Amino acid sequence: MHLGLQKFSGVDVLPLVEGGKGVSVSNGFTCGAWAACGGVGTFSAVNADSYDENGDAIPQIYRGKSRNERRQELIEYAVAGAIAQAKIAREVSNDNGRIHMNALWEMGACEEILERVLEAAKGCIHGVVCGAGMPYALAEIASRFSVYYYPIVSSARAFSALFRRSFKKFQDFLGGIVYEDPWLAGGHNGLSNAENPQKPCNPYLRLVALRSTMNDFNLHQMPIIIAGGVWWLSEWSDYIDNKEIGPVAFQFGTRSIVTTECPVIKTWQSKLMSLKRGDVKLTQLSPTGFYSSAINTKMLANLLERQKRQVKIVEDSSIMVQVGSRTVCLDESFRENVEAWIQDGYTQAMMTPDNTVVFVTPEQSKQILHDQKNCSCCLSMCRFSSWCQQNGGTGKIPDPRSFCIQKTLQSIAHGGNLEDNLMFAGHLAYRFAEDPFYDNNFIPTTRQLIDRILTGY
Ligand SMILES: Cc1cc2nc3c(=O)[nH]c(=O)nc-3n(C[C@H](O)[C@H](O)[C@H](O)COP(=O)(O)O)c2cc1C
Ligand code: SF4
Repeated sequence: MHLGLQKFSGVDVLPLVEGGKGVSVSNGFTCGAWAACGGVGTFSAVNADSYDENGDAIPQIYRGKSRNERRQELIEYAVAGAIAQAKIAREVSNDNGRIHMNALWEMGACEEILERVLEAAKGCIHGVVCGAGMPYALAEIASRFSVYYYPIVSSARAFSALFRRSFKKFQDFLGGIVYEDPWLAGGHNGLSNAENPQKPCNPYLRLVALRSTMNDFNLHQMPIIIAGGVWWLSEWSDYIDNKEIGPVAFQFGTRSIVTTECPVIKTWQSKLMSLKRGDVKLTQLSPTGFYSSAINTKMLANLLERQKRQVKIVEDSSIMVQVGSRTVCLDESFRENVEAWIQDGYTQAMMTPDNTVVFVTPEQSKQILHDQKNCSCCLSMCRFSSWCQQNGGTGKIPDPRSFCIQKTLQSIAHGGNLEDNLMFAGHLAYRFAEDPFYDNNFIPTTRQLIDRILTGY
């Protein structure tokens, strides 16, 4: 197995890539450290921290009364944060490696944020990596700033659509394609409706299909960055120097959280190192509407339980409940369940957009309504609050089965209780506990991790 240098964003670097992680999990320090070792670092531009004159992170507090006012505040925080992280990354990297910026295509005002950051941080950012959605406009924006772009896709079909509709006109700055395994990767996952979350497909076949599509577009030499479930490179030796797959690089998302440079609290790293098989769940609870993979914390478990306390609304029945000012009839066959839930304190029925109600406690109901009211419009479209940046609302009923992702990711990134929050992680995270590299809770520096990865393990 030989992993030679490869061209990324204009220079030859180690084909080892830090996976971008919002909110504030991969930042200027982690990205700079990864680049300093000669690889590709990726800071998250999703509402990243900016700092005051003492170097303390500025808390992202929203004072605006209307959603539009809070949205403007969010954009200003996001722009300032990404610029701050880009500058830190540049300094830490000492001009080695490459610095990439990661954005969620479906984050609120993504295009405006990208444009303003690329303008203000010229020379600090070499590439933009975008997933969670179909980033058609990414190619034009990146090319305008002479910065390389890297779409994250989970299938050949998604790439084909992006290329035909947009990328073919901006090929000079297409830097590579991130293939993220939707059954294994941490964070949001690109599973399509046709794919079964319970039935993982073979990554080899999907990569061959992706390369074949890329070859149809004459992209034989364009690297594919393999992400999701990459642990030991020795396990990927069949994918390296393989004619069917072509040039590849490897991205590490979850593994790079357990490094001394990563800003997450120590207990987060300890939690990762104590996981067992099956502790990471693939669910469809995210307000983005995408599948996502996260540790089964108390918060996630509660949401999964909430989903089960769900009953269909029917035209007529003898079970009637009050939802706000409305009385609705529920499916008779759930009579015993409804009675038991109410007995257990889940006395409030909340409407979902799927013509069902879920039962929650009065405190939970209050919290859900409070979070929906305080929405700061972090997404282009939100299932949880029904916010939609095109017209202010999707017209759908806000979904109490989901949650405010901005609130929980900001909380966990800034010392909030792990169990009460969303902790994204990849499905191989249980391997921290099995890998002798982490014996005695060893937390490597980024350099030690990269050196280790280069040995194949
Ligand atoms: C805590 C966490 C947060 C993440 N946030 C993002 C993100 O904001 N944007 C993104 O493109 N990918 C995100 N990812 C995905 C990673 O960049 C990476 O592709 C993925 O974790 C690879 O799978 P692995 O965890 O098995 O290495 C996140 C992953 C984790 C674990
Ligand atoms: S309610 Fe939705 S759009 Fe609003 S801040 Fe929370 S996650 Fe973002």
